[in-house]
Amino acid sequence: MDLSVIVPTFNEGPNVAELVRRTAAALPGRAIEIIFVDDSSDDTPDIIRAVAAQALVPVRLIHRDHPQGGLGGAVVEGIRAAASEFCVVMDGDLQHPPEVIAELLARAEVGDADVVVASRYTEGGTSDGLANAVRTLVSRGSTLLTKAMFPRKLHNCSDPMTGFFLLDRRSLDVESLRPRGFKILLEILARKQMRVAEVPFSFAPRFAGESKASFSQGMRFLTQLTMLRFGRMSAFAVVGGLGAVANLLITGGLTGLGVQYLVASVIASVLTIVGNFLALEYLVFADMRAESGLMRHRFLKSFTFNGIEALVRIPLLWLLVSEAHFHVVIATALTLLAAFVVRFVYHALVVYAP
Ligand code: GDD
Ligand code: MN
Repeated sequence: MDLSVIVPTFNEGPNVAELVRRTAAALPGRAIEIIFVDDSSDDTPDIIRAVAAQALVPVRLIHRDHPQGGLGGAVVEGIRAAASEFCVVMDGDLQHPPEVIAELLARAEVGDADVVVASRYTEGGTSDGLANAVRTLVSRGSTLLTKAMFPRKLHNCSDPMTGFFLLDRRSLDVESLRPRGFKILLEILARKQMRVAEVPFSFAPRFAGESKASFSQGMRFLTQLTMLRFGRMSAFAVVGGLGAVANLLITGGLTGLGVQYLVASVIASVLTIVGNFLALEYLVFADMRAESGLMRHRFLKSFTFNGIEALVRIPLLWLLVSEAHFHVVIATALTLLAAFVVRFVYHALVVYAP
């Protein structure tokens, strides 16, 4: 087998036949397989099976009933299952022209690269297929931010957010990857120094259907970036910090509307406790949820800690406002700061006790 082409799909039925046809036609005389790793909720798996029965190359389907790690998790599953050490990862909507695969493979066969990136942002590439100016701006901006955060590892990569690349599987331990969301290439390149080569390509418009990118994918990306660069504790601190800002804004806003300050503080605390928990669940500890029991048990543990914290904090707030005559927003900030220190000590000495 010369090459495994891994295609993650989520409701891409109308694109499947065309993708298989063009991929097979683009690599004549090569022994390839196409692996669809599918998390669809519609009839895409049936379409893949029907296309596979007629295809000129072997087409395999891995349908995941309990998808984990989203797009990135699907790609890792495909890399694990691949028959070839050379794995091309390509979107299922034909925004990545299958004809480029031949160039990726030829470049990989030179033998001096672990990853061959199909790049929109190198000489000769274009990103015209991005749906609108906003996405173009987000793509450019996040590419710059990412390159700035990993100046050495991404030195030779102009497009770390591309979803189109060839990986020599022998160059990494697949099990060490922690796929979260869309940016699987970043996950691969940020872990250890890889030898990167690039091939330019023109990002095409979608063949059929709609993009699955979303605001929540964007949040996941920012969390992934923070954790890859600074570790989980910093993502934890950022979430806590944003929660504190939200608490201040809600408290300030409600008192501004005439709500009594203690009532406002209770409402703001409950909202931020719940928000903080959801952010930990779906962003910071998303990769650990599957192995750590029931969500409601985790919620109880987290809620109990935060509840005790709030129970201590609100009388303190009362002392600061009515006895020491601090402004309510200043007082809230002081109590949140104190709570943050307590929380840190609790986690360092109790939760993470050796
Ligand atoms: N298995 C699986 N599970 N596949 C998924 C999932 C999922 O949860 N979510 C999306 N996909 C598949 C889609 O079906 C498609 O084949 C591919 O992943 C890319 O999804 P799109 O919805 O087409 O994303 P996009 O075009 O907005 O983003 C693409 O371009 C970006 C660069 O601008 C992706 O390649 C991104 O990774 C890339 O950063
Ligand atoms: Mn797409």
